[in-house]
Amino acid sequence: MSDTAQPAPHDALAARLSDDMAAVNALIRERMASEHAPRIPEVTAHLIGAGGKRLRPLLTLAAARLCGYDGPCHIHLAATVEFIHTATLLHDDVVDDSDARRGRPTANLLWDNPSSVLVGDYLFARSFQLMVETGSLRVLGILSNAAATIAEGEVLQLTAAHNLATDEGIYTRVIRGKTAALFSAATEVGGVIADAPEERVQALFAYGDAIGMAFQVVDDVLDYGGVSGMLGKNVGDDFREGKLTLPVIRAVAAADADERAFWSRVIEKRDQREGDLDRALALMARHGALEGARDVAQAHIAAARAALTRLPAGDLRDMLDELAGFVVARVT
Ligand code: IPE
Ligand code: IPE
Ligand code: MG
Ligand code: MG
Repeated sequence: MSDTAQPAPHDALAARLSDDMAAVNALIRERMASEHAPRIPEVTAHLIGAGGKRLRPLLTLAAARLCGYDGPCHIHLAATVEFIHTATLLHDDVVDDSDARRGRPTANLLWDNPSSVLVGDYLFARSFQLMVETGSLRVLGILSNAAATIAEGEVLQLTAAHNLATDEGIYTRVIRGKTAALFSAATEVGGVIADAPEERVQALFAYGDAIGMAFQVVDDVLDYGGVSGMLGKNVGDDFREGKLTLPVIRAVAAADADERAFWSRVIEKRDQREGDLDRALALMARHGALEGARDVAQAHIAAARAALTRLPAGDLRDMLDELAGFVVARVT
């Protein structure tokens, strides 16, 4: 970073909430261990030790503090959402057959698929233990719903892959499930644990949902237009997996007969040859598909910012506003 560069908004938020975040990281380290199965700490240390942006726990902490919370339970909730997220990443990299995550080889590549699936299950179970310790049934309801909704989104995506009839409505349902559900739960539980008025809890939910939606749309854009080295995962994975993400849906909708035959071969018939990813990128450029998808993300960000106006003003709210801008501007 140059002297004049601003820290990324999530780093600024982590600095503002540094005591809380240190407590969250200590709790994560404590609970990712296992006395009886050494494979568990090996795999969790590999993935959790690689860091990640810690966006979701930061959102929970910020939401709780924004609503004036001064008890201990937001730490448990922040660790819970990061554990749920980490579990889904372990499973997701098996499902997507991915070989890079957070700048490292994936656990499924270094160990094997059974290890990733089972350690992911372990982290899910640990996340449930953590949230039970808060003693809030409402929080348990929100986070267990989110866990079910994430799995539903991943399964819907699985059955929509390789199908050119997948439209924006289905895509929206997939990403609201697999990604936005955890962002909205992360912010909502922060308000709930603080016993905030319902109007504020709703605003926190709306903010989390909107930045989660934008985050995934941008992730899908970066899977075509990003740089693997910066992302810490490989670009082109979605193409190889035949996923109908928004850039592809937009390019297919604008395709002429020749182009449609191309998409049908590479996505539906799974017949991909050298140069096909470049051709896909050229067709997306011709139809402005990546820009169109970025516009969709931008609209979600406008909704996120509107939701923030219903929350108490102050430095934390300003930081959440900057984070919203980062979600569409990000390249990592
Ligand atoms: C990756 O999420 C999974 C998606 C929802 C696209 P992040 O980009 O937040 O992952 P880390 O935790 O920073 O690695
Ligand atoms: C992210 O899925 C959502 C979950 C992990 C549930 P993706 O497959 O789109 O994300 P990356 O690109 O692997 O991070
Ligand atoms: Mg993936
Ligand atoms: Mg996936």
